[in-house]
Amino acid sequence: MSKTSRLPGFYQLNIEERTGMVAQWAGLAPDDISMLRQGLALAQAERMIENVIGTCALPLGIAVNFLINGRNYLIPMAIEEPSVVAGASFAARLVREGGGFETTSTDPMMIGQIQVLGLSDPWHARFDLLAAKEQVLDLANQQDPVIVGLGGGARDLEVRVFPHTLKDTGSPVGPMLVLHLLYDVRDAMGANAVNTACEAVAPMVEEITGGRVVLRILSNLADRRLVRARCAIPPQALTLDEFAGETVVQRVLEAHALATVDPYRAATHNKGIMNGIDALAVATGNDWRAVEAGAHAYAARGGAYRPLSRWERDAEGKLVGTLELPLAVGTVGGATKVHPTARLALKILGVESARELAEVMCAVGLAQNLAALRALATEGIQRGHMELHARQVAIAVGAEGELIERVAERMVQERVIRPDRAEAILAELRQGTDF
Ligand code: MEV
Repeated sequence: MSKTSRLPGFYQLNIEERTGMVAQWAGLAPDDISMLRQGLALAQAERMIENVIGTCALPLGIAVNFLINGRNYLIPMAIEEPSVVAGASFAARLVREGGGFETTSTDPMMIGQIQVLGLSDPWHARFDLLAAKEQVLDLANQQDPVIVGLGGGARDLEVRVFPHTLKDTGSPVGPMLVLHLLYDVRDAMGANAVNTACEAVAPMVEEITGGRVVLRILSNLADRRLVRARCAIPPQALTLDEFAGETVVQRVLEAHALATVDPYRAATHNKGIMNGIDALAVATGNDWRAVEAGAHAYAARGGAYRPLSRWERDAEGKLVGTLELPLAVGTVGGATKVHPTARLALKILGVESARELAEVMCAVGLAQNLAALRALATEGIQRGHMELHARQVAIAVGAEGELIERVAERMVQERVIRPDRAEAILAELRQGTDF
């Protein structure tokens, strides 16, 4: 099989056929496939968190068609929401027609915060800390020889001063200083390395400043660990029923305009982006709450909540999308190697570093955004959602086996997808037959 992720008709295959194709693509062994199906064993779960009584599974789907920096990817996505995997695959196909996604990222630099109180002259303390920078960095770098050996570690210090009381600048506990430890975490998400380093240098920080350290913890506003994705879609690829491609471009720009001026829309716009990013974060065992916290804080960094992506029309009339956000995700540590599904998701993805994973995630977020905007700006999202949603509603009211499809089909035909209607149809079908 040639290594293209452009797999027309993938969605029409059955689970066996799809699995077979993915296994061949990623070189999965029969044991890997059994593990994919079995998921997390109870004994493994017991070692991950406290008070375990079970596990909680999600569907794992594969989004196809992704071409990123000239490389083909199959994207594993763990998500309960219908239409997300289909939307990503569809948008990736459109983007492919414009040459695929381009991505870039910064070094994986995390920020650890050390809060210092009890200072009468915080600017003086800042001066002293910056003067002792090498000493602080050296101590920080003695804590994790593995990351340092891999070329990572503490790189720099920044000191922020909140000098006054609440009335003036916002500190309700008097003058306060915050030391930022900038730490290159390589392929880890980095929370453990950064928190360990912050705790280790805290006594030295107290000694240098004469103050009292309270918090020592990483910041989830990882704005030194940024990822960017870009795509350009020729208008003809966007043609949809009665909508000419140019009209779709214009309508996507109009839809995006609302997000740029209105946080009520920006929140939903960004939620659509996070549908893709989170699904890949969950599939690969990453901390999606950290990813979410970072994304939304970044969206609000200017004081108003804004869309994370931007859409424009270029000189040739192409629809151009860019997405930029912090993504603190890893390919080592945490659940990435402990959770069997996460391990296999990373194998399917075939990424070699946390940066590559973050860049793929960013492209998936942009694809998801494109899929949502295109649908919203034309036919609306309900049409695409209807079939899977109808099936879920049918299952929720107790339909089983063949009845699921029959109840769902009737609701889609009637364009009424509600539990009460599903119940009525189910009762009718059961009465009329020997189900
Ligand atoms: C639904 O999960 C996501 C959307 O609401 C995103 C958007 O409105 O852009 C469709």
